[in-house]
Amino acid sequence: MARSEFTTEAIRSRVQALGDWFHNLDLRGVRTAPDHFLGDYPTIKWNRFAHVVPEDLSGRSVLDIGCNAGFYSLEMKRRGAARVVGIDSDEGYLAQARFAAEVLGVEVEWRRLSVYEVASLGERFDLVIFMGVLYHLRHPLLALDLLREHVAGDLLLFQSMQRGGEEVEPLDSDYPFRETAVFEERGFPRLHFMEKKYAGDPTNWWIPNRSCVEAMLRSAGFEIVAHPEAEVYLCRCGERPPGIELLEIVTAREEVRG
Ligand SMILES: C[S@@+](CC[C@H](N)C(=O)[O-])C[C@H]1O[C@@H](n2cnc3c(N)ncnc32)[C@H](O)[C@@H]1O
Repeated sequence: MARSEFTTEAIRSRVQALGDWFHNLDLRGVRTAPDHFLGDYPTIKWNRFAHVVPEDLSGRSVLDIGCNAGFYSLEMKRRGAARVVGIDSDEGYLAQARFAAEVLGVEVEWRRLSVYEVASLGERFDLVIFMGVLYHLRHPLLALDLLREHVAGDLLLFQSMQRGGEEVEPLDSDYPFRETAVFEERGFPRLHFMEKKYAGDPTNWWIPNRSCVEAMLRSAGFEIVAHPEAEVYLCRCGERPPGIELLEIVTAREEVRG
C-alpha cells in the first residue's frame, strides 16, 4: 500500500482487523490500544527510563526480543539506529509491527523467532532489548544465557515484572547445608513459579523478586550499569561466571545441528 493510501479510516479499520494490541501506538492519529489497562502503554513506562538509553544510536545495531507491535524498535530507529531487528514468537503481534512500521515509513527487520533461537541470527548487536519477556518463559535463565552467549554485543536493556519485595541482601559466596534462615529473608533471590495462571495469563511462568532479577542478570554475565525504574535495568556485557554446563550442552547441540 502506498503511504498516501493510509487514510485515517483505512488505518483504523486495519488496526481493528489486526486484533487486540498490547502497544498503544500513534499511527498518524489512530491509537492502537487507547483503553490499555496500564494507560498509555508503553509510552508512560518508556518516559521513566528513556534517559539511560543512548540518545544517538547512529551506526548501531539493535535486537528487540519479544518486540510485540514494535514500540521499542520504532523508538530505536527514531534515535538513529542503523539497523533494528525485531523478533517475536507470535505472528499476530508481528503483523501489527509490520503494519505500524509501514504506516510510519520506518524500516525494521521483523522476524518470527523465539528467544531460544537467537543463535540462528549469527551476529551480535550493540544493543539488545529484552523487555517484558523473561517471566513469560518456562526457561528464563536459559534465555538470558543464550542471549549473552550469542547476540549481546555491548548493552542490554532489560525489564521484568517483579513480585515479592524490593529488598536486596548481599549474597555470600556459599552457604552451609544446614543454613535455612536465609531462605526466609525477603532480600534473598526468589523466583516464584506460577503453575497455572497469573493475572489470567497462563504464560506468566516465573515471577522474580528484585534480588533474583539482579542475581540472574549477574549470573548470565551482565553487569548492571543503571536501574532507572523499579523493573528496568541497563546492563553491559561482563564476565560470564564459570560453570554454566547446561549452556555448553545446548550450544554444542546447536553446533551439531548446524
Ligand atoms: C509483555 S509483552 C512485552 C512486549 C515488549 N517487549 C514490551 O516490553 O512492551 C511479551 C512479548 O514477548 C513475546 N514472547 C513470549 N515468549 C517469547 C519467546 N519465547 N520468544 C520471543 N518472544 C516471546 C510475546 O509474544 C509478546 O509479544
